[in-house]
Amino acid sequence: MAASQIAAGESLVSKFTSGNVLILCGVIGGLYLLDFLLTPRLDASEPPLLKPSIPLIGHIIGIIWHQTDYHRIVHKKHPIPIASLQMLWGKIYTVWDPQLAQASLRTRNLSFGPFVVEFAQKAFGLSAETFAKITDNKDLVPDFTEAIHAGMQPKCLHAMNATALNHISRTLDKVSPDDEGGVAVPNLYLWVRDAITFATAHSLLGKENPFENNPSLVEDLWTFEGSLPHLLTKPFPTITVRKGYLARNKLQAVLGKYYTAMHDVNDPTVAQLTRGRANVLRGYGFSGVEVAQAEVMLPVAATTNSVPTMYWLICSLFAKPALVDRIREEVLPLLEKGGDSDPDVVTINISRLERECPLLVSCYREIMRLFNQNVSMRRILADTTINDGKGNSYLLKKGVDVQIASGIVHRMQGIWGDDVLEFNPERFLPPTGKSAGQVEKEKTKKNAYIPFGGGQHLCPGRNFALAEILAISSALVVGFDLTPIGMDFDQMKAQPAVLANAVAKPANDGEGLGIKLRRRKGWEAAEWRFEG
Ligand code: HEM
Ligand SMILES: *[C@@H]1O[C@H](CO)[C@@H](O)[C@H](O)[C@H]1NC(C)=O
Ligand SMILES: *[C@@H]1O[C@H](CO)[C@@H](O)[C@H](O)[C@H]1NC(C)=O
Ligand SMILES: *[C@@H]1O[C@H](CO)[C@@H](O)[C@H](O)[C@H]1NC(C)=O
Ligand SMILES: *[C@@H]1O[C@H](CO)[C@@H](O)[C@H](O)[C@H]1NC(C)=O
Repeated sequence: MAASQIAAGESLVSKFTSGNVLILCGVIGGLYLLDFLLTPRLDASEPPLLKPSIPLIGHIIGIIWHQTDYHRIVHKKHPIPIASLQMLWGKIYTVWDPQLAQASLRTRNLSFGPFVVEFAQKAFGLSAETFAKITDNKDLVPDFTEAIHAGMQPKCLHAMNATALNHISRTLDKVSPDDEGGVAVPNLYLWVRDAITFATAHSLLGKENPFENNPSLVEDLWTFEGSLPHLLTKPFPTITVRKGYLARNKLQAVLGKYYTAMHDVNDPTVAQLTRGRANVLRGYGFSGVEVAQAEVMLPVAATTNSVPTMYWLICSLFAKPALVDRIREEVLPLLEKGGDSDPDVVTINISRLERECPLLVSCYREIMRLFNQNVSMRRILADTTINDGKGNSYLLKKGVDVQIASGIVHRMQGIWGDDVLEFNPERFLPPTGKSAGQVEKEKTKKNAYIPFGGGQHLCPGRNFALAEILAISSALVVGFDLTPIGMDFDQMKAQPAVLANAVAKPANDGEGLGIKLRRRKGWEAAEWRFEG
């Protein structure tokens, strides 16, 4: 009985299997036929076509599977300057040559606008009515971009710098001078994450910001941030991305109260960036609640990349005690003691750090080069020809999407040298030679360094990020000893690249690497302050 059941089962299996084989053959045959019919016919001057190994859908599967790392994988197989990738519905262009990347980022014929709109609908769960306010008003996205630029003018930035940095000094001042054994921080990544998130939220949203003294909201922000790639790609996100969806709703509700109370308009401690963006949305008829639905993205954009960048910089510096010593020598002469007529106050001038600490700045830029793997997306609004400055030009056709992956140009051996995959603290020191060859080399490197994107959508927060990161690292280097707990600083692995993140995060939110934070001798009572 048992045996006959098994036999019946087996024949059922084999029936299904032969049925499946037939279906599979049909599907594959169909794919090849479709592939023949759908293969894009390219202009001779368009970038060469790379067909996927699985017909039609191979590149799509590749991008879903490898996310932003897929471009590197294809480029390794086909080391050419630019390519057309066949997609189910047609093609996209992927740009690998640095000069062509710069040309693509700069021309106004290639726009980021359409992606902002698509992103907004999926990421924020806007109602049809709210979404219509975006799509019906062609000027909304340009006006919004304009407000971002206006909000990052030097005067506004200065105010943001000061607020954020003084918030950060409070975090450092909390390390008790009496505690000789030092303060144990169980997870360095979460410590950096929370310090920067609180400081940035305060500087963007002002003194009424809902994150202040509300650690659970910071947790929600990062849950939402982590779920963004899934919210953008998965079907039925309200069910399949439940945690991220709930975190987003909570943030939108809290911010809804904030914007409904008009804090952005009335509180002078709010950043001009925040005020200007909300003002544009209000101008197009957004209610306070609707402003909050979209602006849930602002604190995410302002922290999602600076936090992991700060983290990798700390790990890379403190893994090399001799390097920390050299940077300390560089920073020490800038410190001013006795500000606010308090002998314990130590003031660091950020503009001077930038100018007078080339090794620290070089380390920062090197971390950006190594850990940034952003893919800038653009849609082509009108037929455009770009050239590589070496006599080759390529036609980019209207309606096609372009992807420019920083991770590829940042890791081109021909440009950066044999140590391209290593952290070289001195890589970005100001060049010493001025020969024609050297000048040309520097120019190539400059073109091949695009951690902040470029053109009209070049990251407006880049100087703010620099200020935050230089401030924290300089104070840590001079005033504190960091001893790793659990593993060494250079043992933490990065998480694989994901969509919507420019900078790779540590695996498992940095679990396994903690620190002992201790004030250095001679700096036991220091109170750290920063100025522009
Ligand atoms: C290490 C830190 C950061 C990195 C690596 C980074 C990277 C980027 C990149 C790659 C883009 C897209 C550019 C393009 O598509 O061409 C971008 C856009 C943007 N970033 Fe940043 N960013 C950082 C910090 C910040 C901070 C601190 C803020 C805010 C205070 C910020 C606000 C924005 C905004 C608002 C945009 C959109 C600009 C637009 O659409 O015109 N970013 N960022
Ligand atoms: C804010 O900090 C950045 C980075 O140090 C600097 O470039 C900028 O000038 C500062 N802004 C002002 C106006 O202090
Ligand atoms: C910081 O240093 C810069 C450059 O030396 C200087 O112009 C600026 O006034 C200093 N800031 C303050 C607040 O002293
Ligand atoms: C950009 O588009 C316009 C048409 O709208 C075209 O005349 C111009 O040549 C294009 N720019 C480039 C660099 O091809
Ligand atoms: C590139 O970085 C920007 C800013 O963080 C982000 O909005 C965008 O989604 C990133 N691109 C990809 C494809 O991850």
